[in-house]
Amino acid sequence: MSFMIRGTGMYVPEKIVTNDDLSILVETNDEWIQKRVGIKERHIAVTETTSEMGYRAAQAALDNAGLQADALDLILCATVSGDTVSPSLACMVQNKLGADCMAYDINAACSAFLFLLETAEGYFARGKCKNILVVGAERMSRIVDWSDRGTCVIFGDGAGAAVLTKADAPYDSVFTVHGGDSVIKIPTYPGKSPFWQGDVSEKPYVYMNGQETFKYAVTAIANDVHTLLDNNGLTMDDIRYIVPHQANYRIIDSAAKRGGIPLEKFYLNIERFGNTSSASIPMALDEMNRAGLLTRGDRLILCAFGGGLANAACLITW
Ligand code: UT7
Repeated sequence: MSFMIRGTGMYVPEKIVTNDDLSILVETNDEWIQKRVGIKERHIAVTETTSEMGYRAAQAALDNAGLQADALDLILCATVSGDTVSPSLACMVQNKLGADCMAYDINAACSAFLFLLETAEGYFARGKCKNILVVGAERMSRIVDWSDRGTCVIFGDGAGAAVLTKADAPYDSVFTVHGGDSVIKIPTYPGKSPFWQGDVSEKPYVYMNGQETFKYAVTAIANDVHTLLDNNGLTMDDIRYIVPHQANYRIIDSAAKRGGIPLEKFYLNIERFGNTSSASIPMALDEMNRAGLLTRGDRLILCAFGGGLANAACLITW
């Protein structure tokens, strides 16, 4: 027993920041950002908190599913840019929705939405839940160094959510973790302990070796998609869409070439939102759902990569 996606939702802040707007802050330009990353604009929070965005996406997903909050058995959330370490984002979303089910967060950076699906699938398989809400919400603008042009132009803010309902639908997944902090790292506040004698120089911003991440991501996507196809006796023709983590248009283009996958199979919206980390895949799913691109029974492959390092892909049935 696994699940079907019964409803989706998303929320992005109203404020749109263009590449030209960023060129006032750091030495960059529209041409570089569009050519190297594929982003034209991103939404940036002005007053919207991570939990507010997560709640709004979650409520939209519940409305789309035609369910009330009391129908939820579990809420799983992901964020690397939460308002608080405790309560978790899931506890805040649960409270704002007026739900009373179990709720907790999973930390797996940009791949986290797929970790939420995998965890949810386990609850369905054990017969523990009928409806599970999964949410990725990020205010990346809070944790980027706005003087570092290598990172601040890439990210955006937003939230995406899905309501999963128990169903007898084919599901498979592949997860890989190469632990360590040498390629991507988001340090926390070092604190002011009078006893601490370790490093306090690190600022709580995103550090990323862009080129290493790029190479890693291309290989991960191509390998993960083929692993899922091979393990399930499928070909690319059996897959309606691949929904990737939206980090860089060139990553997807290179992965498509490397894996011999038609670029048209990938759903891309990075142009309008930038990289919203754990929110990017559920936001894409919501856009696809509302645009009527998906038909019940369609097979989709969702794939993600990022901090951890962690990469994953899930084969789901719409
Ligand atoms: O979601 C989490 C995972 N993250 C990712 O997937 C990100 C993966 N990495 C990337 O998307 C790309 O590596 C970046 C977009 C971050 C950078 O693109 P790149 O093509 O790898 O650029 P680069 O770091 O090799 O830099 C090339 C040049 C450098 O100048 P020099 O040394 O050649 O003179 C940079 O200083 O581009 C310069 N540069 C910029 N120029 C204008 C770096 N950032 C900018 C910028 N505007 N914003």
